[in-house]
Amino acid sequence: NPDVILPPQVAWASGVFANAPLIRKTTRLADLPDFFSDNNAWRGCDPQQRLYDVETIDSPSGEGALYVGVTHLYAGKIGDEFFMTRGHFHQRREQGEVYFGLCGRGLLLLQTASGEARLERVKPGSVHIIPSFTAHRLINTGDETLSALAVWPSVAGHDYAALAGGFALRVFASDHHLQEWEARND
Ligand code: 6PG
Ligand code: NI
Repeated sequence: NPDVILPPQVAWASGVFANAPLIRKTTRLADLPDFFSDNNAWRGCDPQQRLYDVETIDSPSGEGALYVGVTHLYAGKIGDEFFMTRGHFHQRREQGEVYFGLCGRGLLLLQTASGEARLERVKPGSVHIIPSFTAHRLINTGDETLSALAVWPSVAGHDYAALAGGFALRVFASDHHLQEWEARND
């Protein structure tokens, strides 16, 4: 028999990779100034606190190549607003992406170029097809880490500047006893 390659492994219940060369990026509270609506609450938090970690398999890039990574978005709030990722359009706007919910509970905030926002529920097993020309941000509405696997074209890139004015929706903890969160227009 030919030699068989042992590919990278992902633990579906946690998003932890094994047998894979990883590139890690940590985003802390200090990295997201003016992102949360309650600026005083943001200033009152430890700037070194981790918001999320992204682990991406170090794999070949170029036209047609795909990247695979997991985002671990920790549970927490700034004031009443849930922890979220920075959020971005792809630099190459026509490039889509797929997210798979692994563990935890949350929302995927999607926004078109014209500013129309919508939410998809993220939970273990959820599949999210992010279309072309659509900005995306994860929001952790639960009290456990929200982990999601992503697959995207290596050429997609990130355009963070286009969303400098923020997304059209924000998600806060709700004081209504029947729902955990409520979305408000920004
Ligand atoms: C990507 C993916 C994903 C994303 C992370 C962190 O295009 O690379 O959407 O890996 O980068 O969830 O989110 P931010 O890039 O918005 O910080
Ligand atoms: Ni993306």
